[in-house]
Amino acid sequence: MIVSIHLENSSSVEYAVTIDRLPKLSFDTKVAIITNPTVSKLHLDALISQINCKDLHIVTIPDGEKYKNLDTVVDILDELFNKKLDRKSQLIAFGGGVIGDMTGFTASLYQRGIGFIQVPTTLLAQVDASVGGKTGVNNKFGKNLIGAFYQPKAVYIDTNFLDTLPPREFSAGIAEIIKMAVMFDSDYFDFLESADLSNKVILEKVIARSVELKAWVVNQDEKEAGIRAVLNYGHTFAHVIENETKYKEYLHGEAVAIGIVMVNRLAYELGLISIKEMNRIEALLIKHSLPVSYKVKNIDSFYDKFFLDKKSANSKIKFILPNGIGNFEMRDDIDEKIIKRVLR
Ligand SMILES: NC(=O)c1ccc[n+]([C@@H]2O[C@H](COP(=O)([O-])OP(=O)(O)OC[C@H]3O[C@@H](n4cnc5c(N)ncnc54)[C@H](O)[C@@H]3O)[C@@H](O)[C@H]2O)c1
Ligand SMILES: [Zn+2]
Repeated sequence: MIVSIHLENSSSVEYAVTIDRLPKLSFDTKVAIITNPTVSKLHLDALISQINCKDLHIVTIPDGEKYKNLDTVVDILDELFNKKLDRKSQLIAFGGGVIGDMTGFTASLYQRGIGFIQVPTTLLAQVDASVGGKTGVNNKFGKNLIGAFYQPKAVYIDTNFLDTLPPREFSAGIAEIIKMAVMFDSDYFDFLESADLSNKVILEKVIARSVELKAWVVNQDEKEAGIRAVLNYGHTFAHVIENETKYKEYLHGEAVAIGIVMVNRLAYELGLISIKEMNRIEALLIKHSLPVSYKVKNIDSFYDKFFLDKKSANSKIKFILPNGIGNFEMRDDIDEKIIKRVLR
């Protein structure tokens, strides 16, 4: 399956997302694969066997979100200069979203920008992070605060890489899939309720639909001036939960699952969603072993943390709410009292 990305507003960028076994990749340039020890041990041979190029280099960086910073980017850049990559050379991001975000950002910087390709190996990166061109790193002020919109030349999604993914990481990716379905496509949601994601054919179909929806959103709004913000459904609450638990207790997708349940409650209070719809979404999250509750210790401090989010412009909190299953509503005018009632 191939999904094409076409960004009309930004200099007509076009690229394809291929969902299939990894094909032979041929380059008439130098190539550097950016990966980490976990992924490289499991799958690097499989990737290398598919690559044909002038000169192949491997750059390995430590595994973990805590290394997603400028220091690591500088290390990668140094390696690329040591290996004498030129302006035509290409990078391949081989790993999860951490590798993808950092490789894209490094590609945007090296000699003012070289091409890069995404070969995502986590479900979250396959359905979300590898598509859309948001690249960047964290710093002491927060997550993803330094970066660039920089699109890959191509994305290759091969579900065989997911065979080695820990179950919790797999479920975390499903949370982002459920997010897409609730926001944009009720048929897709219905399908997910009965889908067996351990079946590769079905899994590929599900990934393809998620990528299609993300492409549809990004094509309209690459730089998040409007509809792209809808991809943050569940995230306003999730970011506070991640912050309160110091990114240690929950994987990102797990926090998103809890955030979805919390913001659904808010949607219910506002008359946007029924109890039955709320229960269906929660049941689907639970079916995939995702957490759905979180004890708010201090309502006032939880509420105040909403304002740390870089997306809360002009000190208004923007909530992305479901409007039934398959539709969304963006609101930044919700009364503090209602929000605090939900937190209670
Ligand atoms: N750019 C975007 O639009 C976007 C969207 C969502 C998330 N993100 C970013 O993505 C990151 C999260 O991505 P993630 O969830 O993929 O985390 P990750 O990259 O940290 O990967 C999770 C873990 O799985 C390991 N792993 C990767 N592939 C594996 C495989 N096939 N088998 C076994 N283990 C494997 C990794 O080494 C890591 O330990 C965050 O930094 C987030 O900010 C970016
Ligand atoms: Zn997310």
